[in-house]
Amino acid sequence: MSSNDLNYKHTPVLLKEAVKELKVKKNGKYIDCNLGGGGHTKAILGKGALVLGLDVDTNAISFCKQKFVAEIKEERLFIVQKNFLYIDRAVKSIGWNSGEIDGILYDLGLSMYQFKGAKKGFSFNDETKLDMRMNNELQVTAEDLLRVLSEKQLANLFYEYGGEVQSKAFAKAIKSFVKEKDAKCEPILAKDVAQLIKNTSKYKSSRVHPATRVFQALRIAVNSELDNLQGSLERAIELLKPNARLVIITFHSLEYAISKNLEESPALNLIKIVKPSDEEIKENISSRSATMHVYEKV
Ligand SMILES: C[S@@+](CC[C@H](N)C(=O)[O-])C[C@H]1O[C@@H](n2cnc3c(N)ncnc32)[C@H](O)[C@@H]1O
Repeated sequence: MSSNDLNYKHTPVLLKEAVKELKVKKNGKYIDCNLGGGGHTKAILGKGALVLGLDVDTNAISFCKQKFVAEIKEERLFIVQKNFLYIDRAVKSIGWNSGEIDGILYDLGLSMYQFKGAKKGFSFNDETKLDMRMNNELQVTAEDLLRVLSEKQLANLFYEYGGEVQSKAFAKAIKSFVKEKDAKCEPILAKDVAQLIKNTSKYKSSRVHPATRVFQALRIAVNSELDNLQGSLERAIELLKPNARLVIITFHSLEYAISKNLEESPALNLIKIVKPSDEEIKENISSRSATMHVYEKV
C-alpha cells in the first residue's frame, strides 16, 4: 500500500492533549503502542523525539513505513510489527533498555481504515466474512467463534465482553442462522449477522446499532484485547524511567476499567483524566467514547 492510498484514513483522537501529557522532550525515547496511521507518532516525532511504533496490522505497518521513510532512515523512528503484549521484546529488538523510556502511549481499538476500509467484518455493512482479526496471523476468526462456541458460551461472551442484555436471544438466533449457513456451505457475512441481530432485537429504533455490543464482544475475544492490554501495561510500567508518563486512550468500559485500575499501582501516580472537547467530538464523532488516563511513574 502506498502512503498516498486515500483508503488509509484515521483521525487521531486527543492528539494535542496526548502529546502535551506525554511531556515530549527532544531526543527522548517514546513508544507508540498503536501506530495505526501514525498520527500520534508524527506529532511526537515533530517535537524532536525518538519513537518506537508498534502495530499488529500489516497494512498499518506498510503504510507507516512509506509515510515515514526519512524518519526511519535517520533512525528517529523504529517500526516493529508486534503485539504490544511483547512491548519489552520490541524495546530490546531495537537496542533500547528497560528503565530508559520517557513515555508510552496507548491509543486502543481500531483505526478508521480497519473499521471502514479493511473489509474484515468490523463494520455492520461489510459484505465480507465475519473475520475481525487485526492480525492476520491469528488462527481463530469471529466466524469460527460463532461456529465452535455453544449457544450458552456465545451468550456469556456477548454479556461479559459486550454487556449485552439480550445476549441469550441473540446467541439463539445466531446459532440457528449458523446451522442454516453451514448446511448450505455458505460463509457467515458481517452484514447478515448485524441484520439478524437487528431483526431479533427488542430495541430496533435505538440510537446505536443493535449489533454494536455483539460486534464489540466478538472483536475483543478474537483479538484477546483485554489480556493483551493487561499484560502489556504491566511490562510498560517496568520500562519507564522515574517521572516518565504513561498515557492510555480507551474507548469502551472494559478497557477503561483496566486503565483505571492502574490508579491502584504503587509504581504510578494518576495525573489526570482527559475527555475530548465538544469541538473534537463535533469534528470526529468516533472520539466521543474516548477517555485518556495520564499516569506518571513514581
Ligand atoms: C486507534 S488505532 C491507532 C491510531 C493511531 N494512534 C493514529 O493516530 O493513527 C489502533 C491501532 O492499534 C493496533 N492494535 C490494536 N491492538 C494491538 C496490539 N495488541 N498490539 C499492537 N497493535 C495493536 C490496531 O491494529 C490499530 O492500527
